[in-house]
Amino acid sequence: MEAEDRISLTIGRSRLEIVMGDITRQETDAIVNAANSRLTPGGGVSGAIHRAAGAGLREECKKLGGCKTGEAKITKGYNLPARYVIHTVGPVFSHASRERNAELLRKCYESSLGLAIEHGIKSISFPAISTGIYGYPMEEAADIAVRTIADFLRKHDEIKVVRMVLYGRDAFEVHKRAMKKLSEEIDKISYNP
Ligand code: APR
Repeated sequence: MEAEDRISLTIGRSRLEIVMGDITRQETDAIVNAANSRLTPGGGVSGAIHRAAGAGLREECKKLGGCKTGEAKITKGYNLPARYVIHTVGPVFSHASRERNAELLRKCYESSLGLAIEHGIKSISFPAISTGIYGYPMEEAADIAVRTIADFLRKHDEIKVVRMVLYGRDAFEVHKRAMKKLSEEIDKISYNP
């Protein structure tokens, strides 16, 4: 990966990173899945995670009784480099309920991070939840994602690294701008540490 494809921001004793890449390849303790409420494989990130993890993940997901929008459930990572997968269900975007969508998207990040702490997870990778099949505009979702993660890390230092993994240059650039805006409010930003 080229050096400019990674940005990080120090928040308390933790680090928020954005990188361009594939979430299934991340070696963090956990990766987050942008799931559907039945926790079936689906397409997008979820399809890629299920393909890389193998059939064990689908079998474990079947036993979980689904997941509500904004909530999160945890499984093992099977053949993935990550030990755990945290499945969260993002809102399906609609202009009519913008505030509610934003609240549910924030909840996805908070629920996933809360569950990570309960399981002693120190590093976690997120995709840009809801910005694919569920149609959330990337700029709005990026602002919500980085702010929610930063707010969480200000209050909890158990998790050392939170990484947002963006699929492609456009998504990365949008998140880079969101990080720059955020960094103007926070003490210190460092590039390519
Ligand atoms: N790594 C990182 N990001 C990825 C990857 C990958 N391998 N594949 C896709 N993405 C990006 C997409 O480009 C998009 O920006 O992840 C973001 C989220 O896209 P989706 O996977 O479509 O997730 P979402 O919009 O939350 O829709 C969830 O999709 O797979 C179905 O069953 C799932 O119904 C649910 C819906």
